[in-house]
Amino acid sequence: MTGMQDLTGGRELVMVSNRLPVDRVIAADGTTSWRTSPGGLVTAVEPIVEQLGCVWVGWAGSADEHIEPFEIGRMRLEPVDLSRDDVERYYEGFSNGTLWPLYHDVIAPPEYHRHWWDRYVKVNRRFAERVAETAAQGAVAWIHDYQLQLVPAMLRELRPDLTIGFFLHIPFPPRGLFEQLPWRRSIIQGLLGADVIGFQRVPDAISFRTIAERYTHTQALGNTMVLPATADAPGRTVLAQEFPISIDAAAFAEVARRPETQQRAREIRAELGDPKTVMLGVDRLDYTKGIRHRLKAFDELLADDEIDASEIVLVQVASPSREQVDAYRQLRNEVELTVGRLNGEHGTIGHSPLVYLHRGYSREEMVALYLAADVLLVTPLRDGMNLVAKEYVACREDEQGVLVLSEFAGAADELKDALLVNPHDIEGLKAAFLRATHMPQEEQRRRMQGLRRAVHDNDVEHWASGFLGSMTSISETRAAAQASGTPEGATGPVSLVPQAFVPRSVGDRLRRIATASSLLVATDFDGTIAPIVPRPQDARMLPRARQALEMLSAAPGVRVALLTGRSLGGLADTGTGGEGWIVSGSHGSELTGFDVSGITGGAGGEPTDEESDRLDRITRRFERVLGSEPGVRLERKPFGVAVHTREVADPEYGRELLAAAVEFGVAEGLHVREGKQVREFSVRASDKGTVLQSIRDALPAGPVLFLGDDVTDEDAFAVLGPDDLGIKVGEGETAAAERIPDPAAAAAVLARLVELRTGIVIGSD
Ligand code: ADP
Ligand code: G6P
Repeated sequence: MTGMQDLTGGRELVMVSNRLPVDRVIAADGTTSWRTSPGGLVTAVEPIVEQLGCVWVGWAGSADEHIEPFEIGRMRLEPVDLSRDDVERYYEGFSNGTLWPLYHDVIAPPEYHRHWWDRYVKVNRRFAERVAETAAQGAVAWIHDYQLQLVPAMLRELRPDLTIGFFLHIPFPPRGLFEQLPWRRSIIQGLLGADVIGFQRVPDAISFRTIAERYTHTQALGNTMVLPATADAPGRTVLAQEFPISIDAAAFAEVARRPETQQRAREIRAELGDPKTVMLGVDRLDYTKGIRHRLKAFDELLADDEIDASEIVLVQVASPSREQVDAYRQLRNEVELTVGRLNGEHGTIGHSPLVYLHRGYSREEMVALYLAADVLLVTPLRDGMNLVAKEYVACREDEQGVLVLSEFAGAADELKDALLVNPHDIEGLKAAFLRATHMPQEEQRRRMQGLRRAVHDNDVEHWASGFLGSMTSISETRAAAQASGTPEGATGPVSLVPQAFVPRSVGDRLRRIATASSLLVATDFDGTIAPIVPRPQDARMLPRARQALEMLSAAPGVRVALLTGRSLGGLADTGTGGEGWIVSGSHGSELTGFDVSGITGGAGGEPTDEESDRLDRITRRFERVLGSEPGVRLERKPFGVAVHTREVADPEYGRELLAAAVEFGVAEGLHVREGKQVREFSVRASDKGTVLQSIRDALPAGPVLFLGDDVTDEDAFAVLGPDDLGIKVGEGETAAAERIPDPAAAAAVLARLVELRTGIVIGSD
């Protein structure tokens, strides 16, 4: 990973989670050692802090033991001690007996005990105090997961100088379930102590915001919660939105590429008896993971002879987890009973169709298993994300292998090319297992390519930069507001944006699209976000529009596209563009900043020889006939030529010249496009509508915002659907749903969208 260093703006990073990234293990003979802690939280977070360096506050995994702070690489670990009683009440009790099942669709019944809750409050306070003692002035504190939901507010009280983030790695429940919790208000208040609250999926964030509005005096404005000032504290805003977590995909790919890993994968298959198909399941032994459902489907397929027990092996890796909690003990008993029965019924002396492994493995062995598996079964009944699914994909550079994935895993939002299943539907599961075992290589390749694109587009660095970037910008905005004497909540953040620029109906529609998990923000350039000027090369994007587009482009789930009639070269003259932007020039004929192979239309590439010849011919003709007319400017583009008459003194004469140009162009078989005092002649029939449609098709599904001012932008408005938002800038007929007067208003619209999406207010120019 690269480029992470600046994410905290040079401030100290303090990670806070129930578990430290390493557990202290005490062997039977009393010797102690350290091993990587279980679960997805550590898998995701560790590679980031290895790069950034941090202080990490957490529990070392053993009860009644005092451990002094110690260092590993760039991390300073600050262990928080838990007594046996704390472990029972706070960890096994309230965290894993109440919150875990409640937040996972009550798959197991949550228990509500006041003495568990009391201890949860006490231990959360201990964590908050520990961070407060440890953190440097102005540090960034990033608190993780359901075990520590009260820490943000406790910490803010102790250390108002810190920037505080909270990320929930598991689902946030729908309101109907959350309301069961006797301490629901305290949990919400605890979380609202953060500046940024991150969730895995859009529905989690929506549910949180709805509940927070109901149980506290806050108001949701898009993704932002506005907290009013109280007698003790100034008003604040809190960003509460989805930041889907991921893995260090490159690190997994690197292990997968090693010859020794590939050799080990072959050995694993050989050790399994070289079956035709190897299926794999990798989970913590947890009732949310749908292991029982998976085994039932497998068992039935064997019993019905739909799969041949001698040709298949299902390897189920089930890492030990929370073994003191009743529901987990019961699950282990049931699974182990099923394994014995299934192999008893379907196995032979030399071959067991189900291999059950109840232990932890090294990263290298896990990757070898992924490479050895023809099919990975990920069938949770509910899962925040599920990183195992992403790890499998990251390892499969050979583009082979099939991922069967539950719709109830957060990963299903991104990994749409998996075979998606409802794990409750056993017949559906069986059908998917069969389909996976028989999937042709070509289909495997096509699906795996899509899956790999998704994992590559959002790896853990992207996740961390999105989250930390939001925290940093919020703290910088706050500092600037304080320095200028307008503390954030004094007037509420909304009123900091000039309201007059964004019509109410536009504001309402923006609010509707602002929270979508995937959002495409596309805009024309000249006349839309850059005022029209006499000389095209002098056009400049309004600074506020530029800032807004840059912030949108950095926000998770948002892509920014600039669709201009200019050639890309002509656009470059204005110094326009931004990191990660998609830019289409020449009305859709040119395209950069996007994987062109993902585009289905005719965008991109070079003109053919025949196209170049025709273009040369018409350009020569225009030069001869129009070139010497005062005020006429000819602009050659990669796929066409434009005739501009903006500077012709007599508008009537300008119109006549354009009519003459159209006659020549049509005779030459070129496509003609009308603009304001310009006609464009092109050898390709692309337009902004086609390219916009192609870009959106290649991105995850979600709404589109498009802003444009000219006739050629109508093609783009025409492809928008009811859930999108088209905004016409200025006068003229339009298919757009909304209209605003000028580029300054367009900049205000974009700034409002930034605020709704990220909580950050961009002032007026
Ligand atoms: P959860 O966070 O609920 O445990 P995830 O799928 O998000 O689920 O993350 C699980 C992580 O634990 C993955 O990184 C996976 O590789 C790792 N893991 C699971 N089982 C084992 C095991 N037996 N040995 C080593 N790592 C494991
Ligand atoms: C999941 C949770 C983590 C937890 C991990 C392992 O990933 O989101 O917070 O640390 O499981 O569970 P454990 O209870 O062993 O820490």
